[in-house]
Amino acid sequence: MTTKLPVLDVPIVLAPLGGVGTPELAAAVSNAGGLGFLPCAYSTPAQITEQIAAVRRLTDRPFGVNLFVETQWDEPGDRVRRAHERLRRYRNELGIPHAAEPPLPPRHYRQQVEAVLAARPAVFSFTFGILEADVLERARAAGIATLGTATTVDEALALERAGVDAICAQGAEAGAHRGTFLAPVADSLIGTLALVPQIVDAVQVPVVAAGGIGDGRGVAAVLALGAMWAQLGTAFLLADESGISPAYRHVLAGDPVRRTTLTTAFSGRAARGIRNRFIEEMSNPDDLAPYPYQNALTRDVRTAAAQQNRSEFLSLWAGQAAALAKAEPAATIVARLMREAREAAQRSVRAAGLPVGTI
Ligand SMILES: Cc1cc2nc3c(=O)[nH]c(=O)nc-3n(C[C@H](O)[C@H](O)[C@H](O)COP(=O)(O)O)c2cc1C
Repeated sequence: MTTKLPVLDVPIVLAPLGGVGTPELAAAVSNAGGLGFLPCAYSTPAQITEQIAAVRRLTDRPFGVNLFVETQWDEPGDRVRRAHERLRRYRNELGIPHAAEPPLPPRHYRQQVEAVLAARPAVFSFTFGILEADVLERARAAGIATLGTATTVDEALALERAGVDAICAQGAEAGAHRGTFLAPVADSLIGTLALVPQIVDAVQVPVVAAGGIGDGRGVAAVLALGAMWAQLGTAFLLADESGISPAYRHVLAGDPVRRTTLTTAFSGRAARGIRNRFIEEMSNPDDLAPYPYQNALTRDVRTAAAQQNRSEFLSLWAGQAAALAKAEPAATIVARLMREAREAAQRSVRAAGLPVGTI
């Protein structure tokens, strides 16, 4: 038995934007008739509770909450120390202290899950794997719909077998982390146009399409491929309500936005962002600790870089359609996406030789 997904006025989902998303952004998209998402992977359990309450103060419409499923925890001591040492030069350049002991990632995954379940959002989405069976069961019992991320048909089938209510098909164009959890990332880089219809054909549950949907033309395209909703991340990065740093905003609005690449330099997990000096210089895997250690190690560098306006050391996550993002209020973005989607659909109908009144 599946839990009902919320009914939306428009088939637009704000992707959970870790490090960038805000309660204001989530609420604005929900208030505009789409599904807002609160990214909670980097939040403490107490922050999750507070931020969900903040969204509820701004909207009474459904919204979702997102976590990273916990992955490996064997502490690779030497590699962490070596990777920590490798960052000394950037800390020196930024004028921040280099701690004697490497900073370690927080171990609060189960408490994060408890905070999400207790808050009962309409949707609980996740990436990097599959929520534990007992968590999926408790979400079902609480009436929370679950949405798992797949980058291949095999991952979608595994999610469906586990009993999720919907699947987010994340194409290779997508900004930030790859959700890949079965095959190596290099073998799981399937474009949205190829991935979505294959997952739609393979599973019974609804499919949400993500990756490289830059405007309403992309929305119309993924709906035509059989997706129920279009999930956009990068298209909302420049929204007025986004928590993006000024340095990140500046790069997104400029020319380098056209050069995205996959990198493991910031977190130890493959993610798509705008190429910069940190990515270029940290391309040797021997310099990096595995996820989530590398993420904890680079946190002070990224925070200082944002404070000092140094985009060369920032994780500038963005998808391949980043140049299409516009600086507008989130509600305007949602309305524009729908207008563009309708126009695109009408063009398709005309191109297929059908009368436009057909849609
Ligand atoms: C800045 C940024 C942060 C992201 N953080 C998360 C996250 O915390 N959890 C998650 O499941 N996906 C995250 N994503 C990925 C999105 O869910 C989605 O797959 C992606 O944004 C879709 O591609 P697009 O950026 O081209 O629209 C993030 C994407 C961006 C751009």
